Order: sequence, then C-alpha cells, then structure tokens
Amino acid sequence: MSKLFITGQKRLSGCVEVQGAKNSALPILAATVLTRGESVIYRCPDISDVEASQRMLRWLGLKASRSGEAVLVQSDGLCRHDIPDELMRQTRGSIVFLGAVLAAAGRARLSLPGGCEIGLRPIDLHLKALRRMGAVIKERHGWLDCRAPHGLKGAEIALPFPSVGATENIMLAACTACGTTVIGNAAREPEITDLAEYLNRCGACIEGAGESEIVIDGVKELHGCDHALIPDRIAAATLLCCAAATGSEITLRGVIHPHLGAVLPLLEDAGCQFSASGNELRVRCPERLRSMKMIRTMPYPGFPTDAQAPLLAAAATADGTTVFVENIFENRYRHTAELARMGADIKTEGKFAVVEGVRSLYGAAVEATDLRGGAALMVAALGAEGKTELSGVHYLERGYDHPELTLSALGAEILRT
Ligand code: EPZ
Repeated sequence: MSKLFITGQKRLSGCVEVQGAKNSALPILAATVLTRGESVIYRCPDISDVEASQRMLRWLGLKASRSGEAVLVQSDGLCRHDIPDELMRQTRGSIVFLGAVLAAAGRARLSLPGGCEIGLRPIDLHLKALRRMGAVIKERHGWLDCRAPHGLKGAEIALPFPSVGATENIMLAACTACGTTVIGNAAREPEITDLAEYLNRCGACIEGAGESEIVIDGVKELHGCDHALIPDRIAAATLLCCAAATGSEITLRGVIHPHLGAVLPLLEDAGCQFSASGNELRVRCPERLRSMKMIRTMPYPGFPTDAQAPLLAAAATADGTTVFVENIFENRYRHTAELARMGADIKTEGKFAVVEGVRSLYGAAVEATDLRGGAALMVAALGAEGKTELSGVHYLERGYDHPELTLSALGAEILRT
C-alpha cells in the first residue's frame, strides 16, 4: 500500500488549478445511465471513486473511458439492472445509481451499501421517496430489489433532512417519471445544481436546484451532452488549510468563491487574507493562526462537514482554543487520535471536539482512517517539525487527484512510495 513521506515546515507558494468536484462527478456519471447517446464530462478528477463509477457503468453495459481530463460515456448499451457487492462497496457514492438504474431499466438490484468509516450512512430517506414514486423495494440478505411495475410517477416529497444523496436519487428517478415531482427541503449543495445543469442539458426539465424546493417535470427521454464539472470546493478548502498550516501565500485557480462562502470567513477570523480576481483566489496566511472560536458543520450553505477534518488540523497549531461541532455525521473525528500522535491537544465528546492550539506539531508515523481524515493528516504533516509517514493513502486517492503532485508543485517536500 502506498505511503506519503512529508517533510514539514516548508513554505508553500505558487498557483494551482483546483480539480473538478468529486461529489458532482459521481451523480453525473450515474445520470448517464438515464441518457441515450454520448456524454463528455470535462474536468473529471482522476480519483478512485470516479474509476469505480466507470467500472459500474461498464458492468451495466455502457462504454466509459477516460480521455485526458474528461470521461466519455456512450450510453446506448444498457443491458443490466444489477450492481454486485464488490462494485457497490468501492464507493459510497454508488447508492445514487439506484434512482438512475431503476428509472432507466424499470428494475434495480443493488447490494446494500454498508456503513463506512464516518458513520452508518442509512438510506431510509432514499427508499421512502422512491416508494412514494411507485417503486416496490424489497430489502433482504443485504440486497435491495427494486421494481417499478407501473413505471415511476411524479410525487410530492418532503425530506425531513436535506440529504444530498436522497435529493440526487429523487432527481434521477423523477427526470423521466410520469408527471411532476416536487422535492421539499432539498439539499442545496452546489453539486446538486451541477447535476441539474447536466440533466437539463440532456433534455430534462428541472427547476429550483440549489434552492430548498426543486420541481422536476418528467420528460420522455434524455440524450447525452457535454458538461464541465464545477471545481471541487472541498479540495479547494483543503488546499487553503495546507497554506494556513504552513503560513504560506498561494493562489487557487478555477475557484467559484460563493461555494466557499462558509469557509473563507473562518480563515479570515484566524488571520488569513484573501484577494479574488476572476476565478482566482489568493490567500496570504499568518505565521500562526488565531483560534477560530467555534465551528459548526451544517448543510450547505453552512460550513461543510467535509472541510471539518482539514480545518481541525490547521486549528491544532492555532493560538487559542477552537471548538468543533460535527452535526452531520456521527463518527467523523477518527483523525484526532492520529493527530494526537503528532502532538495535537484535542478532546472529543460525541459531536464536540475541543482543540487547544499547540505551538507546533511534530512528524510521526500516522494512518489515514477515511478520506477527509487523511487530508487532515496531510495538512498537519505539512506544518509539523520533521518527517511524517502517512499510510492509508488509498483513502486520499478516493477524493483527491494526485495530491502529492499538487503539493509538490507548491513547494512541499512530499514523496510517495
Ligand atoms: C454526500 O454524502 C457526500 N458524498 C458526502 O461527502 C458529504 O459529506 C455529504 O453529502 C454531506 O454534505 C457524495 O456526494 C458522494 P447526506 P451523503 O445524505 O449523500 C443522514 C466526502 O467526504 N441520512 O446528506 O451520504 C446521514 O446519515 C463525502 O466527499 C439519513 O439519515 O450525505 C448523514 O448523517 C463524505 N438517511 C446525513 O443524513 C438517509 O436516507 C447527511 O447525509 C440519508 C442520509
């Protein structure tokens, strides 16, 4: 298994392009199952979750291949409606194939995606919504067996929680359903809007994406289209945390500033200075961050749960105490134990993490426990005294496109075995 060897306390400098959004790529690749013809998805990050999605598309009979920074999908060959366990388990984003395959094939048989490192990841909201649209779903022996004997029909669906995945599954199931679907309390993440833009370009009729109410008028069929993914706001936030942990000044290219609306003010409170021009964002970070007081993760447009771990790593050497409240997932502080091996002073209790800033962390052998936890250890290692050996790099590769190359380009001393 690969490892990263990082020598800390190197100033970063220069400009890097932000990768395309992982959490747009996964639902949009699943959405190609609904279309006929060819789609070209530009700025598709070269990450293992995208590779896993391509394998699922090929399993279903579609053609999916990478051409540089784009993924090409030829959707005319859909010939299966089942996705086996070994494919489903490769990425958490796979559950979004449920709505697409059920709508396209009238049936879907997927193995239940189990929990993962950050929580139980239930799908009750997905299943309840699809049943309201006429799906007959049996759950047994770890399999979901779904049918739409009379086709899927539009429905009024009020989500008790603005679930990103449930919103996406409903959108995919509703695009070619008979009638109109209204999603109340829909997730408002930018990746939802990106998915809606792809689907509308394919001929769907979706209004209100990005707001709390999304209306989808079912259409007969969808064709392929070309689509460039939005930049990955979490990858951008992670790079800002790398700069913040090393007192650096860097420029990110291809950023959509409003997508970082809940992240930038926190880093400004900590002493970082931002300047934006066009799609570039420059950050100048202080030698040592001030504490950020209290950070609560919330559904968009609140502070994103996926940025909690990298920001917590940057807060570990801030001047003062920062309290984190993780409101979205029930087990998303596993990185704190590994950070403690680097000298961090963090106490966790349920959804709370109290981070007492220390003067400096020191390099150690640490192990990533999940995608964003791995990012946190990378942030900490960049600012730490001495060398860090980071294992579990496969977690990082799920969501970050060659992070060691990106950071080396900014002057970090980072080697990969
Ligand atoms: C998406 O996960 C993202 N994944 C996650 O990114 C992200 O953290 C999350 O949204 C929140 O923004 C992808 O887009 C592939 P949810 P998802 O449904 O759809 C509960 C990363 O690091 N819930 O909004 O699974 C659930 O347990 C990943 O890139 C139910 O109870 O998130 C969680 O507590 C991690 N029942 C909360 O809602 C359901 O049926 C948020 O889940 C569905 C969700």
